[in-house]
Amino acid sequence: MKFFIDTANLAEIKEAYDLGVLDGVTTNPSLMAKEGISGKDRILGHYKAICDIVDDCVSAEVIATDLKGMIAEGEELADIDDKIVVKIPMIEDGVKAIKYFSQKGIRTNCTLVFSAGQALLAAKAGASYVSPFIGRLDDVSTDGIQLIEQIVHIYNNYGYATEVLAASIRHPMHIIQCAEIGADVATCPLSAIKALLKHPLTDSGLEKFLSDYKKVNG
Ligand code: G3P
Repeated sequence: MKFFIDTANLAEIKEAYDLGVLDGVTTNPSLMAKEGISGKDRILGHYKAICDIVDDCVSAEVIATDLKGMIAEGEELADIDDKIVVKIPMIEDGVKAIKYFSQKGIRTNCTLVFSAGQALLAAKAGASYVSPFIGRLDDVSTDGIQLIEQIVHIYNNYGYATEVLAASIRHPMHIIQCAEIGADVATCPLSAIKALLKHPLTDSGLEKFLSDYKKVNG
């Protein structure tokens, strides 16, 4: 299972990368705004700075919602670095844009996916990744994990190459549940990745090992 971090914060990306388990980064316009990144040059520069930290897979989202605009913006984003994956919303022109980029060999991440039907369309258009938002589904009393399971099952039926990228992850159990049902990728806040580390028996066990060592070694 691949781990992506869902942030545009350079310090958090560096911290997750230094842990040695990071496979990529996802951003979105809200996450870029949270970092105060505005204006075309600063936005493109920030994506480049992210690419310089990680080994691959930096999702950069288009703002345009028409085909022509998404193509122009996506090509500009893809030109920043080979690590860029163009993130495109699941709308009608988005499906067409995914098909266009797929034929050009530019990787895409189809975002704002909330149903199996949308995920099927994204795969047929040739998306490299599909991003179902599990936390936002949970927020409206719908089982986000069940959607991941459904998409994994459908993709396996037909051998689609599109990777299931579980997004809108809120806590470590989302990651575990995604791993159990075979999601290819989980994009997570740093807090959820670090929460996987923690177990009270690890802490108390380590404390005991160290105190026993000190008893005989001083
Ligand atoms: O990047 C897309 C997704 O992960 C957003 O998460 O927490 O805003 O629902 P959230």
